[in-house]
Amino acid sequence: MKIIKISAIGSTNDYLKKQAKIIPLEDETVVQTLHQTQGKGQMGATWHFDIGNSLAFSIFKQTNELPISKQFWVNFAVSIGVKKGLDLLGIPKVSIKWPNDILADGKKVCGILVENQFQKGHIEHSIIGIGINVNNASFPEFPQASSLLLSTGIHFSLDEVFDKVLQAVLSELQLVKATNAEAYKKQYESYLYKIGIVSTFEDIERKMFYGTIQGVSNNGMLLVKLQDTTVKEYRLKEIKMLY
Ligand code: BTN
Repeated sequence: MKIIKISAIGSTNDYLKKQAKIIPLEDETVVQTLHQTQGKGQMGATWHFDIGNSLAFSIFKQTNELPISKQFWVNFAVSIGVKKGLDLLGIPKVSIKWPNDILADGKKVCGILVENQFQKGHIEHSIIGIGINVNNASFPEFPQASSLLLSTGIHFSLDEVFDKVLQAVLSELQLVKATNAEAYKKQYESYLYKIGIVSTFEDIERKMFYGTIQGVSNNGMLLVKLQDTTVKEYRLKEIKMLY
C-alpha cells in the first residue's frame, strides 16, 4: 500500500484517474486530501467538504480481471468495509443504504463513489472514493446528513478514522475474488437499511409507492416486494428511497 497526502485537490478520484493514465499505479495506492475543492458525488452530484472536519480519500485497486458481471462485488466490499470500520470506532447503528450510502442511526455519514476502468469484458481497476463526515457540526442544507460527531457526541481524530476505515476496506477488497458469492451477498444484505420493513419509494417517473426491500440480486440490483406481492428488480436510477 502507498499513501499520498495532498494539501488541496479538486477530486481525489479524478487525481487517481489522471495518474493511472500517465503511469502504472501500484495496487492499493491511496490518495487523501486535507481540502477537496470539487468533490464528486453519485450521479453527477457534488460532494461537500468541510476543511478540518471532513475526510476524503480514494483507493486505486487492481481488480484481477474481475468480470464486468461482478462489478457490484467491489461496491459490496467497500460498503461492508466502511461499515465494519465505523463499527470499530464505536459509531452506533451503522447500516448500508442501497447501493452504498453509509448511515449512522438512519442519517448519511459517508458517501462512496466507485469508478471502474473496463477492458475486454472485465474490470481492469477500480477507483474507490470515500467521503466521511467526521466532525461536521451541522448540515443546514442537508437534513438527511449527519457526522460521526453528531451521531456520538465525540470529536474524532481524522487520522484515526482514516486508518480504521482504510484498513477495513482494504481487507474486504482482498476477499472480493475468493469469497463465496452467496455468503458475501448475505452479509451485505444483513447490513441493509430498512430490509424487510415497508418503506416509501419514488420510481423513475417520480411516482410514490410502498414496497419492502427483500435484498439484492447477484448483479447488485435492489429487490423490492411491491404491494401486490410481486418482487421487482431496480437499477440505480430507477428507484429512490424516501427516508
Ligand atoms: C455520494 O454521492 O454519496 C458519493 C460521494 C463520494 C465522495 C468521495 S470524497 C473522495 C472521493 N473524491 C470525490 O470526488 N468523490 C469521492
